[in-house]
Amino acid sequence: MTIRAVVRGVGHYLPDRVVPNSEFETLLDTSDDWIRTRSGIERRHFAAENQTTSDLAARAARAALADAGLMPDDIDAIILATSTADLTFPSAATMVQAALGMTRGFAFDVQAVCAGFVYALANASALIASGQAQRILVIGAETFSKLMDWTDRSTCVLFGDGAGALVLEAADGGGTSADRGILATDLHSDGRFKDLLYVDGGVSTRSTGLLRMQGREVFRHAVEKLAQTAHTSLEKAGLTAADVDWIVPHQANLRIITATAQRMQVPMERVVITVQDHGNTSAASIPLALSIGRQRGQIKTGDLIVTEAIGGGLAWGSVVLRW
Ligand code: UT7
Repeated sequence: MTIRAVVRGVGHYLPDRVVPNSEFETLLDTSDDWIRTRSGIERRHFAAENQTTSDLAARAARAALADAGLMPDDIDAIILATSTADLTFPSAATMVQAALGMTRGFAFDVQAVCAGFVYALANASALIASGQAQRILVIGAETFSKLMDWTDRSTCVLFGDGAGALVLEAADGGGTSADRGILATDLHSDGRFKDLLYVDGGVSTRSTGLLRMQGREVFRHAVEKLAQTAHTSLEKAGLTAADVDWIVPHQANLRIITATAQRMQVPMERVVITVQDHGNTSAASIPLALSIGRQRGQIKTGDLIVTEAIGGGLAWGSVVLRW
């Protein structure tokens, strides 16, 4: 018998303010056409001035709990993937715990930038498999709009805000790839590439800082590494790309998503795509895409899903799960 971390509920939250590409045309030397053609992005949501990452995360968490038919105190742990925690400390996860009125369990943040949700799923799966938790809220939430340099056209048009959440629950499996739940994970980082994508502030500078990215270089690594990690995690699960019902990729750039699917030889009809509506929401992009894929009727119980992501660090990885 194998203990699996099975999805019991899913939900998301997007802030009210929708910003179309055309809004940037009035501020910068850019165009709707450039943004669409180079990234696939058409619009994104931005949080209100007084809305924090934990606010977005708590709303997504409530939606996932409602979908699971559970109360906050049914949860043993909260893992929140974010690089835009409200404060330097305490963790945004403990703020979500308080907002939900949860009086038991434990909560912590995972910081692996755009790969954060994949890292959080791997941690949640390990905690459940080792018996340390039965039910875990795994959230990805970001307010990257607060890290944008509005004079840098090569970054500020790409990112958006949002949150998505899953409730994972321990369930007995047969130990085969037919089980529901998380079947395999594959994580990597290589700090030699830390200067390709970073925020130029933090505790050491007594300021929050702004996002800096060498987009073309990150693009190159993404195309090379994402198909590779997806292949590795499928192999660990005893599966191949032919078994995949849905790729649910990190939503940074439609060209990266397409190139990865091509390398995996998975047709685009089996890829969940939300980048046009959300932009790059970093650690929130995969749970948002899972929630919306489910809402659209794309993802169904028993479907085999591969998620993959890469971001600052560089940090990257993938998860194979049966919904
Ligand atoms: O989620 C974390 C991981 N991040 C990513 O995955 C992002 C990876 N990178 C990308 O998605 C792409 O590299 C970008 C969308 C950021 C850029 O696309 P690109 O095809 O790599 O363009 P580029 O950076 O090579 O720039 C091409 C041109 C440049 O002009 P020159 O030097 O050719 O004259 C840029 O200055 O486009 C120019 N440019 C813009 N033009 C209009 C850059 N940003 C803009 C803009 N509007 N917003």
